[in-house]
Amino acid sequence: MQLVSVWNPKGGQGKSLIAINLSAAAVELGLKPLVVCDDPQGTATLFSRGGRLSFDVVEKMPAKKPNADLVIIDHGARDWDLPPAPIVLMPTKPDRSDIATYQDAVSLLRPTGKKVIPIITDAQGHRASHARAVRAMRKIGAFELRSSGVYGRAAEDWMSIFDPSLNTAYKVGERRSEFSAILTAVLNLQNQPGQFAAEVA
Ligand SMILES: Nc1ncnc2c1ncn2[C@@H]1O[C@H](COP(=O)(O)OP(=O)(O)O)[C@@H](O)[C@H]1O
Ligand SMILES: [Mg+2]
Repeated sequence: MQLVSVWNPKGGQGKSLIAINLSAAAVELGLKPLVVCDDPQGTATLFSRGGRLSFDVVEKMPAKKPNADLVIIDHGARDWDLPPAPIVLMPTKPDRSDIATYQDAVSLLRPTGKKVIPIITDAQGHRASHARAVRAMRKIGAFELRSSGVYGRAAEDWMSIFDPSLNTAYKVGERRSEFSAILTAVLNLQNQPGQFAAEVA
C-alpha cells in the first residue's frame, strides 16, 4: 500500500482536484485507491456524497491498514503541519503569490527527505507571467495540469473527469493523460531513493 499526501497550505491550488482525479486514474489502472479527506472544508467528502465516484472517501485515516493499493490524503488549506506521507504531491497555481507560498512550503519538506512531486495547475497559456511560471516549474521536473473547463463541468455533478459521461468533452483525453503521467510517477517513486529538488530557481 502506498501513502501519498496532496499538500500545499494555500487554498485553491488544486489539491482536492488532484486527490479526486488521481484516484479515478488509479481505478482506470485496476488499482483500489482510497481518499482521506483531511480538510475541514470537506471537498472530497462532498464529491463522494454527491456523486458517483468509483472509489471511497473517508474522513479520517483508518486505524487499521486499509484494503487499498493507494491512499491519498487531501490536506486542507492553512495546514502547515508536515504531511505524514513519504510522497508529497505539491500543486501550485502560477500566480506570483502562489509560487511564493509553494516555495515556503517546499522548503519545509526539504530536510525531511520526503519525495516531492511538484505540479503546476491551471496556468493560462496566453499569459506571459503564467508561461514563465510553467517554464520554471518544468525545469524542476514539475507535472502540468493545464487549465480546462472540464474540471468545472465535472465538479457540477461531483464527478471526476474520468466519468464516462465526459468522454466527449473537449480534449478530455489529454487532461486524463496528465493524471495518468502523475500516477505513473507516484507508482515508480516508491522504489526510488532520494527526492526531487523541488524548489523553483
Ligand atoms: N487545471 C485546472 N483547470 C481548471 N480549473 C482548475 C485547475 N486546477 C484547479 N482548478 C480549479 O481551482 C479551484 C480550486 O481547486 P481545489 O482542488 O479545490 O483546490 P484546493 O483543494 O487546493 O483548495 C477549483 O475550482 C478547481 O476546479
Ligand atoms: Mg481542497
